[in-house]
Formats: sequence, structure tokens, C-alpha cells
Amino acid sequence: MNAIGVRDLNASYHGVEVLKDITFTVGSGRIVGIIGPNGAGKSSLIKSMLGLLRIDKGSIQYFDKPIQEIRKTIAYVPQRNEIDWDFPITVLDTVLIGTYPKVKLFKRPKKKEKQLAYQCLGKVGMAEFSQRQIGELSGGQQQRVFLARALAQQPEMLFLDEPFIGIDVASEKKIMTLLHEFRKDGKTIVVIHHDLSKAAVYFDDLLLLNKKLIKYGKAHDVLQPVTLREAYYDQFSFLEDIGVTLT
Ligand SMILES: Nc1ncnc2c1ncn2[C@@H]1O[C@H](COP(=O)(O)OP(=O)(O)O)[C@@H](O)[C@H]1O
Ligand SMILES: [Mg+2]
Repeated sequence: MNAIGVRDLNASYHGVEVLKDITFTVGSGRIVGIIGPNGAGKSSLIKSMLGLLRIDKGSIQYFDKPIQEIRKTIAYVPQRNEIDWDFPITVLDTVLIGTYPKVKLFKRPKKKEKQLAYQCLGKVGMAEFSQRQIGELSGGQQQRVFLARALAQQPEMLFLDEPFIGIDVASEKKIMTLLHEFRKDGKTIVVIHHDLSKAAVYFDDLLLLNKKLIKYGKAHDVLQPVTLREAYYDQFSFLEDIGVTLT
């Protein structure tokens, strides 16, 4: 069964088209990397898939249901620059938000919820930082805390937007190991990713995007010079850096 079905999706900002005729499906239990140049529409694609950006046309279904019916089973870790890191909140409270079925701000979390939050913090190796303010953490630690919050939601599907930008190698490894564990439980994961050198190792399938869907499939088939050139045509130096010749 397909976990995700996107059909003929079109989206725009103020009349400027950013996604055009996007159609693809994601099988349950797959980990998919979305790749493509800056401004390709990667973030817009997952936002529209999550119902955070209104689409002009098309449909998005999860296990044949609309997002409204399964929203609570999807966890989303936004791009780091979209989070207000100065917001005065502790690590534990950040993760506790994930445990609430609905955000009930004035309800005190119960013991069970705290246990779950600590358990998720333990998984990402951040339990000892539970009382720290999130603003006092390194980039990698912050990203681990947000992953812990997503896991505390006990989701069926997980969406992450560029989780490895500005973080240390150890955190990247830890997060990737946890994502692969999560997939072993049959969960479906979508990750926006910029580093093509690791893309084939990290993901089952890749979706190469530049406003249109350029190629979707096994990493090896997507990471072909002719396909990459089509997506990164205006970023010659980037292609040279990763060893793709332009002739
Ligand atoms: N809130 C917004 N308002 C207007 N234009 C936007 C907005 N967000 C993104 N865009 C534009 O949409 C295009 C796709 O952006 P985005 O989805 O962020 O790409 P990516 O994540 O691949 O870098 C870019 O041209 C960007 O400038
Ligand atoms: Mg983006």
C-alpha cells in the first residue's frame, strides 16, 4: 500500500508558480530523500503535502485518506531557520509538546507523558540536557531535541526539512541511525537533503526536484549526470564540485 500519493500538485506564491504537475507515490516503510538546487521548491513541496501551504491544483493522500484525517500521525521537523530558538522553553518542555495529542497548554503533563519524553530524549542522547533552554544548545543538539519531539508524537510518518544543515557529524550520524531504526518499524520518512554525496547511502529512493519532478526512483538512477544536469543547469560550479562533467 502507498503511504503517500501526490497527484498533479501545483503550487504558487502570489501567482508565481513554484511547483508544477508533481505526481509520485511513496511506498509504506520507505525513506525518501528530496534533492534539488536552492529555490527548487523542496520546502514548498513538503509544506503543501502537510497542508501548510495551499495548493492551486492536485491532490495529496496518505493511505488513501486526506491529510485532515491522519494529520496527528505525521510529525514534521521544519528547517532550523524557521524555528524561534530564543523562545524561552526547556528541552523537556519542547519534547513534551510532542506527547500531547492536542496542544493543551494549561494541562499539566502526566507521569506517563514525562516518561515518554525522557525516553525519546534518551534515544537522541539528550536526556541529561532536559532542563536546558533550547537556545543554549548547539545546532546539532537542537536538531536532536526536535527529532525527540517528533518521536514523542509516536507518528506513522516523519517529514524533515534539511535536518543536517549547520550540525556536527556525530549528530548527523545519530539522527540518521534513528531514522533507519524508525523505518525498520515500518514507518515512512521524507527528508529534504542537500548533500548529494551521502544521498545514495541515506535513502531508499530519491526525488530530484526543480519546480518540476525531474526524476524519482532508486538513488543510482537519479544520481546520473544527465539527470543532475537537468536539475542543476544553472549551478555549474556545484556540479563540478561533485564531479559531474558538463560536456
Ligand atoms: N513565503 C514565500 N513567499 C514568496 N515566495 C516564496 C516563499 N517561500 C518560498 N518562496 C519562493 O518559492 C521558491 C521555492 O522555495 P522553497 O520551497 O523554499 O525552495 P527550496 O526549499 O528548494 O530551497 C523560491 O523561489 C522561493 O523564493
Ligand atoms: Mg528549503
